[in-house]
Amino acid sequence: MKALPKSVLNHNMVDYDHFVKTFDWKQVEKQFSWYKTGKVNMAYEAVDRHVAGPKADQVALHYSDETRKVFYTFRDLRCESNRAANVLKEVGVTKGDRVFVFMPRTPELYTGILGALKLGAIVGPLFEAFMESAVYDRLQDSGAKVLLTTPDLLERVPFDDLPALETVLVVADSYEDNGSFLDYKTRLSAASNELEITWVDKEDGLILHYTSGSTGKPKGVLHAHGAMVQHLHTAETVLDLQEGDVYWCTADPGWVTGTSYGIFAPWLAGATTVVRGGRFSPRDWYEVVERYGVTVWYSAPTAFRMLMGSGDALVAQHNLSSLRHVLSVGEPLNPEVIRWGMDVFGKRIHDTWWMTETGAQMICNYPTMDIRLGSMGKPIPGVEAAIVDDAGKKLPPNRMGNLALKAGWPSMMRAIWNNKEKYESYFIPGDWYVSGDSAYMDEDGYFWFQGRVDDVIMTAGERVGPFEVESKLIEHPAVAEAGVIGKPDPVRGEIIKAFIALRAGYTMTDELDEEIRVFVRNNLAAHAAPREIECRASLPKTRSGKIMRRVLKAWELNLPTGDLSTMDD
Ligand code: PRX
Repeated sequence: MKALPKSVLNHNMVDYDHFVKTFDWKQVEKQFSWYKTGKVNMAYEAVDRHVAGPKADQVALHYSDETRKVFYTFRDLRCESNRAANVLKEVGVTKGDRVFVFMPRTPELYTGILGALKLGAIVGPLFEAFMESAVYDRLQDSGAKVLLTTPDLLERVPFDDLPALETVLVVADSYEDNGSFLDYKTRLSAASNELEITWVDKEDGLILHYTSGSTGKPKGVLHAHGAMVQHLHTAETVLDLQEGDVYWCTADPGWVTGTSYGIFAPWLAGATTVVRGGRFSPRDWYEVVERYGVTVWYSAPTAFRMLMGSGDALVAQHNLSSLRHVLSVGEPLNPEVIRWGMDVFGKRIHDTWWMTETGAQMICNYPTMDIRLGSMGKPIPGVEAAIVDDAGKKLPPNRMGNLALKAGWPSMMRAIWNNKEKYESYFIPGDWYVSGDSAYMDEDGYFWFQGRVDDVIMTAGERVGPFEVESKLIEHPAVAEAGVIGKPDPVRGEIIKAFIALRAGYTMTDELDEEIRVFVRNNLAAHAAPREIECRASLPKTRSGKIMRRVLKAWELNLPTGDLSTMDD
């Protein structure tokens, strides 16, 4: 491959220590219109801005699935998102309204999201595997006004129980209007290509991602348009996107990686982006890399482990030599996987650490940095990270503690929807945002992930709250009590294991085991269904009746159960 010119920022990153000292977010802000006008819109900066410049006819999106292969230039994307915005406008969407998208990865999903943003609406993406109660919780909590979905997913939308939901736009080749359910595609083809974009403030709401904690229902993490500063900065310095790159982020926009790094970051940087619809398949994935000549690839440890498991013979059948930079996020990246990556791609996979709440990458292995196998890397310039104790006091190197971030980075969440108290609970004295991860920093400033402080489960890169699964389990008529933990797994990182106690009159059988699993899968989501269920006469509880997950985990891993003084006898 021919050598590509490095952008100014990339070049600066060669000397990390120097760049950290001289870096100022203003350097990045200057690239956006609001630096001059005070107003902004993410969709304008990511798409329309390029149409005014030399990238207008460059491919912005290469989309493919089993049945279609299409591409959109930045000019096409501007036009299609304008039309989507005009359809949404017709049904009454205005600034601040919540517009949800519940669709598989298709071009219409991407143009729908951009269209909603162009009206200043807040987008709520729902992962397509969500079942009725998961969909309900999110639409209800957010007060969603409009939903974009497909006929296949319609039956999971409990429209009548959602008073704020006014319109459902149905994306199908043929669909007839039916009350509040409207045919989207016909309206789309009739809509105008031109739109008066809604300019917003950089603090205005952009996107609402629901994510799990260890207690309670998923919470709505709200991000603002100003996040673009960090998206662009990391697109250039961490993803290392350069002129001519073909970039592929494998995440679905139902999760934060799929929006921050599947939409915003690459398009802000004007990169050609690949989206693959359909399910994961190793052969398919290698084909996508080869067909489009992917140069920068962002995926997750689970996916790399599955590729690794599919064998090197498959790799040998594909030409992967276009790859220049490979990155990972979502879970600890095993040194073994990095070694495998060296063998098959001839590249080190670069780990990045961040979370839904941080909105963008925070601690990373830079392309220009020596990576230490197993370390998440160092904080990006402009971000201060530290290991602190519960009182917010910094701990010295090599001591394990809370991984914390100094509040105020550009892509930091702005609120937890409808829950000020929850939002405030993230922060401790010293203006530290506490991540919920435990880690340590070595004497050279590299961070090393150790685990979650709470009970949140990371399974195949997805964050699952045990409480939500437990609540669903006890809705099954046979289940009296349930406690859910993450059990270590070589491919998925963790799998969901449920301990249950049955109601009187039930006995555990293979059929019942299967029925309970299917029940969670069908009513919550496939990725949240327990892979293992263990039946016990009763579960360990505190005197106040709380299931003690830590004891369940100790049982599972044959570890000491620790202090049991609060346990009910
Ligand atoms: O525990 C950390 C883990 O994923 C959590 C955040 O999950 P979520 O909000 O779903 O966002 C995932 C993708 C941005 C973190 O608290 N995590 C994320 N990246 C890493 C990681 N654990 C270890 N190493 C990482 N690189």
